Amino acid sequence: MIARVFLYEPVIHLPGLYPICGDYSMCGIFGIVMKEEQTLGPILIEAAKRLTYRGYDSFGAATIAGPTIDLRKDVGKVEEVAAKYHFAEMRGQRGIAQLRWATFGEPSQVNAQPHLDSDGDLVGAHNGNVVNNAELRELFLSEGLIVRSENDGETCVHAVERYLNRGYTFLDAIRLAYGDLEGDYAFVIGKTYDDKLYAFKKGSGMVVGIGDGFTCVSSDLPSILPLTRTIIRPQDGEIVTLWADRVEIRSVKDGRLIERQPELVTESMDAVQKGGYPHFMLKEIHEQSQAARELLHMLNSNREVKTLVEKMKTARILYFIGCGTSYHAALLGAVYFAQIAGRAVIPILAPQFIAQYVPTVNYEDVGLFVSQSGETKDVLNALEAAEGRGMTCYGLANVIGSTLTKETALCLPLCCGYEISVPATKTFTNQALTFLYLAYRLAGRDVDVLDLTPSLIDQTLEMVDSSVNALAEEINAWNDMYCLGYGLTYPVALEGALKLKEVTYAHCEGMLSTEFKHGPLSAVSKGYPILFVAGPNDIPLIISGLNEVKVRGAHTIVIAQEDARLRTNADKLIVLPTSDAYLTALLGILPLQLLAYRMSVLRGYDPDFPRNLSKTLTVD
Ligand code: AGP
Repeated sequence: MIARVFLYEPVIHLPGLYPICGDYSMCGIFGIVMKEEQTLGPILIEAAKRLTYRGYDSFGAATIAGPTIDLRKDVGKVEEVAAKYHFAEMRGQRGIAQLRWATFGEPSQVNAQPHLDSDGDLVGAHNGNVVNNAELRELFLSEGLIVRSENDGETCVHAVERYLNRGYTFLDAIRLAYGDLEGDYAFVIGKTYDDKLYAFKKGSGMVVGIGDGFTCVSSDLPSILPLTRTIIRPQDGEIVTLWADRVEIRSVKDGRLIERQPELVTESMDAVQKGGYPHFMLKEIHEQSQAARELLHMLNSNREVKTLVEKMKTARILYFIGCGTSYHAALLGAVYFAQIAGRAVIPILAPQFIAQYVPTVNYEDVGLFVSQSGETKDVLNALEAAEGRGMTCYGLANVIGSTLTKETALCLPLCCGYEISVPATKTFTNQALTFLYLAYRLAGRDVDVLDLTPSLIDQTLEMVDSSVNALAEEINAWNDMYCLGYGLTYPVALEGALKLKEVTYAHCEGMLSTEFKHGPLSAVSKGYPILFVAGPNDIPLIISGLNEVKVRGAHTIVIAQEDARLRTNADKLIVLPTSDAYLTALLGILPLQLLAYRMSVLRGYDPDFPRNLSKTLTVD
């Protein structure tokens, strides 16, 4: 018998172009299994609200009882969608909720999750990205399955469906589907005429909760902890079956039962949300390798990248426009474009773009507007002015659904997930990596070399940790310092100085190393800290600058790859892993982010929320 399915109309599409790519590690799922049918709506709404930090483009929920699946979903925030479709009244013995951070398919009702299988007796939802989504969708269509959306969550449902159709048991169907689904994701699925939910994950996080008379599963703890503090953390390659009164874990490989003792979570919710880190800033610094991985997945699968590269190639003048950290990434991007692709770019602060270039731009020019929030007023003013002159405007933003993503012809996502800490860290790295990737594409060079980036980021953070801690103690008494770089590392020095200023409240000036002798040299006194970021091709130049200040008493610290010449000349060398000059520049920011963080904590400040600052500046 075919399930009775409630699917609300109409299908609503948000305006603006959204890139077709993976769902990264964003999106949130929650599933719950009760003994008997009951009102589940309020539990699903509450669980979803606690996952809002993972996405809010669309919200959906499905409840299952006997032959019936009640599925309601749409574009919008949890509260809006829940109120519009009366989620609070939803009843079932099992429930699944999903929040989406749209990427694989635009934010629309049809792409919202959960998804049904072809005949509507299976329902499931995922978070993360299935990187072979396009290939699998083609395969499913050729096999006659009904594919309704572009979303990779639906692909997970069909991946199980096709093996169930061939007569496999649910567990065996999942084991086979697991082998077909490539990427990092967590998935939960349920069937009519059943009393269980099944869940499995690859790469992404997933937590199972065991309560009194119920079990639940979610992408993350915040949605589980208000219900129960007894949890199990399933591993990759494991399938969890959830009944109301027990869970069972089996191996994907051979189906054998796996024993796992539940743990008791005793930390506060605040500590849980920080993932065990004392501050969001430190958590976000350590999320950079995963964010880079997600970004590269997206860039490799996003069809819009080609369009963007072609447009940039043929532009009369190409501008990279942003503010603060995003501007520093734009500066680095301009050096990448020049050195890798031989393409001149004008990187410019957004308000200065209005004053200096808007009177000269026209439709032959291309502007790439860079912003974490996508809401910075200075950037939106520049966008409006540029559009007024007919310039072709593209975006690079982290917050999907922000004004920049809607008002530009095409906007690439930064794939960082939420950056809660006011100082930008992971978004800078992904902005710089996007520019590096685009420069390689523009030059027609193989982008595979960039696949090393995530592991180099992890390596760097590990290598510099103790030396940065020691340095923070050494220079913490100073309220004045410089951070110098040259060429590729000049924008990194500016960004490092901004980080130090933001969270330590000290004066730290970023500057081109060769400019120091043109005036600031007079500030040097005994022990005065001067940080250098040195690329492998600029060592002799950096050594000259270093000695100029050292002989006048400065305490010189160099961030660079291991180099005997630097070791001899500098007071301290913070060693980066071996890589090329382009990646060295990108890695060079990591010790500076860590240094700023450590000094802020040593000074007793809250690095996440520095005084006087705001994460999103929506004022002139
Ligand atoms: C960086 O740490 C700061 N939070 C700030 O400079 C920021 O980069 C700037 O305000 C621009 O913000 P946006 O990237 O959201 O446009």
